[in-house]
Amino acid sequence: MPVNKKLLNVLNGQREDIPPVWMMRQAGRYLPEYRATRDKAGSFLDLCFNPQLAAEVTLQPIRRFNFDGAILFSDILVIPYALGRKVDFVAGEGPKLEPIADAATAQSIRREVDHGKLDPVYETIRRVKSELPPEVTFLGFCGAPWTVATYMIAGHGTSDQEPARLFAYRHPDAFDDMLQVLVKASAEYLIRQLKAGVDAVQIFDTWAGILPPEEFARWCIAPVRKIILAVRDEIPDAKIIGFPRGAGTMLERYVTELPLNAVGLDWMIDKTFARERIQKIKPVQGNLDPIALIAGGEALDRAVDDVMRAFSDGPFIFNLGHGITPQTPIENVERMVKRVRAQ
Ligand code: CP3
Repeated sequence: MPVNKKLLNVLNGQREDIPPVWMMRQAGRYLPEYRATRDKAGSFLDLCFNPQLAAEVTLQPIRRFNFDGAILFSDILVIPYALGRKVDFVAGEGPKLEPIADAATAQSIRREVDHGKLDPVYETIRRVKSELPPEVTFLGFCGAPWTVATYMIAGHGTSDQEPARLFAYRHPDAFDDMLQVLVKASAEYLIRQLKAGVDAVQIFDTWAGILPPEEFARWCIAPVRKIILAVRDEIPDAKIIGFPRGAGTMLERYVTELPLNAVGLDWMIDKTFARERIQKIKPVQGNLDPIALIAGGEALDRAVDDVMRAFSDGPFIFNLGHGITPQTPIENVERMVKRVRAQ
């Protein structure tokens, strides 16, 4: 008998009476068992590339909260690493890469990923797959080329992505060339993840919303479209979720121009707009404010109910509008899941 995976049903366009639920960044520092495993691993990248420990942290939130989706534990910055860039995660500071200041440096980047460096990720997938309850949908992911490029150029996170925006205006050809390298690498990476056993993949474009509309079309929509087509060329029924954080009204173009199975909504989007203009076209995923999840109590209940009211008449996956933060109390996550499933 085929197993009923609720999250996968929604990606196939179905509505579920009780929406499937998972959280972006569900494996992370708000969980004591994650912090313990991370300490055992050494550095953050050591954890990403240790299949036994990465599988363990992938499964931790499933054991605790019974989520309908498990997301592979890794990071979007393993792609620059596999392209030969130096990548470090400094505790309390986030990622540190060697910055790219000029066109010549951008053009010197290796054009092919070293898949050998990514082999441990595929091994993590095989391990998780063998232990995951069959009704849980297993998600792989990559970063969208624009978002990955913002970290590669600045060398760290910034609040406005000025270095990458400036680079794209000054050196559009070199920037486009770099995005094409990321398109190819990301498509190959997602294809290998799907072949190793994930049920669906999500493309995270965390910094999509910082761009003017014309640049959004050029640097976010066009490269992600190429990734989707390359993946489907190899795996025609590949299930793909896009998450262009901060896209605002540009979401309409995003879902019209991209053959996605679902789109992730951030917490800032107007819910009436999202229901009437986006969910009519594609299943949606989101969009609880992660700060309401920190607050808990009645504010959280109200925020959960608002999301449920907005989207549960159509195909919908309950999630946050961005990743869970380290200071979130675990009991608030329990309260959220209980409330979603009680409706
Ligand atoms: O649980 C999951 O969602 C799976 C694992 C996952 C991580 N990062 C683990 C992680 C996923 C899907 C990501 C995606 C990711 N990584 C994105 C896109 C989504 C988003 O949240 O915006 C981005 C932009 C990155 C790059 C990145 N990695 C940053 C900016 C940071 C530092 C910020 C922070 O939260 O500390 C990371 C580190 C990181 N990736 C952590 C985790 C659990 C925290 C590191 C730690 O354990 O010390």
